[in-house]
Amino acid sequence: AKILWNDQIVSEEEVKIGYEDRGYQFGDGIYEVIKIYNGDVFTATEHIDRLYASADKIQLVIPYTKDVLHKMLHELIETNEVQNGHIYLQVTRGISPRQHNFPTTAVDSVLTAYIKETSRPLAQLENGVKACFVEDIRWLRCDIKSLNLLGNVLAKQEAISKDCYEAIQHRGEVITEGSSSNIYGIKDGVLYTHPVSNLILNGITRKVILDCCEEIGLPVVEEAFTKAQALEMDEIIMSSTNAEVMPIVSVDEKPIGNGIRGEWTQKIQQAFELKIP
Ligand code: PDD
Repeated sequence: AKILWNDQIVSEEEVKIGYEDRGYQFGDGIYEVIKIYNGDVFTATEHIDRLYASADKIQLVIPYTKDVLHKMLHELIETNEVQNGHIYLQVTRGISPRQHNFPTTAVDSVLTAYIKETSRPLAQLENGVKACFVEDIRWLRCDIKSLNLLGNVLAKQEAISKDCYEAIQHRGEVITEGSSSNIYGIKDGVLYTHPVSNLILNGITRKVILDCCEEIGLPVVEEAFTKAQALEMDEIIMSSTNAEVMPIVSVDEKPIGNGIRGEWTQKIQQAFELKIP
């Protein structure tokens, strides 16, 4: 496969990762996952904007303009001749002798981006998936798409060990988001989701879903809900770049609504499909 390494597209054997890369040692960097549908990047501008916003929040300078990065990603897709999949892109603060504070001399950031060919999770989108509650033990800057994912990793692993697809994280009684997704509940024809804050990642799919809700006439309330309220929802959804609009049909083995994909969920999915390139 061909990899984007800084501003060069090279074969994967050519990529050298430094053992003193701050991404490797400290998780000192940021990332994005961007979906490719039919050879075209979906919501690329939004993902690139969020990447630069994450970089700003950790005082990391990406040495390319957004336009140049956009073009490099297109070139990466064309070189690899991928039709469906996703781009994984990360930028670390660079390679420098290990010390917690930022390098005191100028160091180049290290960018790597590559493509994974994947197909859409069609069976799960129709049948829904199981989830479980997991305490949210992450830090207080979940708005940054940071490479530090240990809290998310532990949450997802707990879910997998319980034969679930996703962990629904909560701080105390209040639901924040999934381990790698945003969470929504629908009750009596209203969609609820945690407001954008430092406690969740402002998902790009979340924004697309809120647009879909407007189109189909489903009112949205950006208010957090509790675990108890979640279990009383008619429908629950999780969303991410790869999971799209995914129905959650049970939480901690308790069925949500009728325990199958709900009507509103299906309508949001249909509106979402129309946006896919
Ligand atoms: N995860 N919340 C968290 C904690 C996430 O890691 C993600 C995405 C989302 C959804 O964001 P978006 O809709 O922009 O993909 C919410 C990516 C896909 C990942 O880590 O693989």
